[in-house]
Amino acid sequence: MLKDFDRYPLTFGPTPIEKLDRLSAHLGGKVALYAKREDCNSGLAFGGNKLRKLEYIVPDAIKSGADTLVSIGGVQSNHTRMVAAVAAKIGFKCRLVQEAWVPHEDAVYDRVGNIMLSRIMGADVRLVDDGFDIGIRKSWEEAIEEVKAKGGKPYAIPAGASVHKYGGLGYVGFAEEVRKQEEELGFKFDYIVVCTVTGSTHAGMTVGFAKDGRADKVIGIDASATPAQTKAQVLEIANRTAELVKLGRDITPADVVLVEDYAYPVYGVPSEETKEAIRLVGRLEGMITDPVYEGKSMQGMIDLVKKGYFPEGSKVLYAHLGGAPALNGYGYAFRNG
Ligand SMILES: Cc1ncc(COP(=O)(O)O)c(C=O)c1O
Repeated sequence: MLKDFDRYPLTFGPTPIEKLDRLSAHLGGKVALYAKREDCNSGLAFGGNKLRKLEYIVPDAIKSGADTLVSIGGVQSNHTRMVAAVAAKIGFKCRLVQEAWVPHEDAVYDRVGNIMLSRIMGADVRLVDDGFDIGIRKSWEEAIEEVKAKGGKPYAIPAGASVHKYGGLGYVGFAEEVRKQEEELGFKFDYIVVCTVTGSTHAGMTVGFAKDGRADKVIGIDASATPAQTKAQVLEIANRTAELVKLGRDITPADVVLVEDYAYPVYGVPSEETKEAIRLVGRLEGMITDPVYEGKSMQGMIDLVKKGYFPEGSKVLYAHLGGAPALNGYGYAFRNG
């Protein structure tokens, strides 16, 4: 589906699929859980889902003649960390807007984890006081203008690389990769669980799995706590991406499954249940999930298994999208483990 698009390799190659035997058994053994380890996909600054997206965006950035990547996220954004890493790798400058998306007050929140890594990689990091919103932001547009005013040539990458014209392609590639791995494994996954916020990961998967009739088997777990906006953005990105890759049909609202129950209390703040899910998968599988994204999708998957959402015998693939560096900003929450 992607042969017509340029790809700049930033990842190691296909990511491993790991069986979560102990977690599956702990939850009753009726559903087999697997994880596709997107969190281990690259040597670039701890990797994660943004690199699959950026592989299809970087060729356009290079072609444009730009010299500075400009992007935006929250203070502990994984996405901006990945943009900083990619800028370093391709020899660009990097200007990052880090907004106050999360009402979280660990003393070192803006000094550790993702934001520290971005600073180490040489990005020009600026903190801005605006709150959470997955849409196009004034602060980001201003940063683009500022780069231009100083004689730089900006290349703009929106939050999560999502509403970029090529933002959905990377996760179409994920679906194609899973199909190949399924051939080797000798079975197909019945469901794919994914954490959804800015939408292009979920949207790309929806298009990729629509090809073999599994669009609505992609179960998005909302972590934005603004699910109506997130679902609308997934649908919009999915339709744009479907057209780009010539899927041959529209993506409809029924194709986009977004479970809204686990994003509470707000974006970026883990509930007690999210923290419990992070501890459980850490203790049973040695797998690290974070309080903003994967902890919430892990909590969602665990709860859906407990509620019998997946029929007995189902094989469920959890897309582990990365994000562990943000844990450093949540030291107080995990001070006793
Ligand atoms: C670790 C992690 N998981 C999940 C997501 C959600 O992906 P998307 O923004 O494409 O919906 C993100 C980024 O927002 C992320 O950094």
